[in-house]
Amino acid sequence: MLPLKEPKDRIIFPLDFPEINSAMRYVEILKDHIGLFKVGLELFVREGPAILRVISNASRNGNKSHLPVQGQTGGREKIFLDLKFHDIPETVKRALRSADVYRVNFITIHCDEGKDMMESIAETASERIKVLAITLLTSLSREGLKEMGMREDLQDPLRLVLHRAKIAKSAGCAGVVCSGLEAEYVKKELGEDFIVVTPGIRPSWSIIHHDDQKRITTPFEAIKAGADYIVVGRPITASKDPADAARRIAEEIEKALDLKRKNV
Ligand code: C5P
Repeated sequence: MLPLKEPKDRIIFPLDFPEINSAMRYVEILKDHIGLFKVGLELFVREGPAILRVISNASRNGNKSHLPVQGQTGGREKIFLDLKFHDIPETVKRALRSADVYRVNFITIHCDEGKDMMESIAETASERIKVLAITLLTSLSREGLKEMGMREDLQDPLRLVLHRAKIAKSAGCAGVVCSGLEAEYVKKELGEDFIVVTPGIRPSWSIIHHDDQKRITTPFEAIKAGADYIVVGRPITASKDPADAARRIAEEIEKALDLKRKNV
């Protein structure tokens, strides 16, 4: 895991923007208030891999030119590359090898293809990029799973997440992405070192219209339940003062960590 010195280091902000300028505006606003920037398909497909270096330079050096700074940095960039790879094992394995040149911290794969696929994948990347398995999208509920034809005993999101998290761990993944409702069970079953990243975060004060997230928790609940990192997007972007929203989230994280330390 990355050194988590301060509560804000646990906040992952998704750069869910269609182009570089809006993304960089939020990098500037939030770089001192969060831990990692998440780059997903929308931005990556539009701007290409060069965006990763631009984000990392801007968040580290305050380089506002959007031009890559020459020369490699020693460590990994504080970037979560969320491309949610999903294909046959060999193809995903090769994509992961290609992605390793970006020196990001985390990368995601879907884990509903079973152990064989994941083993070959984790074998490729475990020493370098940390591979996190997406257990179940937080936009999916029990009804959605039923509609998709999931077998009855796994229509319960918690069961399905635990089932997939076990496969992910035995395949060598560093951790999983799951909702705050499952974080506690994943930690209990799979151990403290198994990283849990939790999206679907909604602070009690946030109002999101037409929200697609179903299995939601507050930052406090997610961290208290055992999440190591939380992904928070719209509650921050929908706020009039995004930096202040991030600060308030960090305060909630601190409260939850404090209670955990005291074992309350
Ligand atoms: O907080 P908000 O709902 O805006 O966060 C959206 C982000 O969370 C998106 O980038 C989406 O890809 C990510 N997400 C995720 N895994 C889920 C649900 C959402 O990574 N299960």
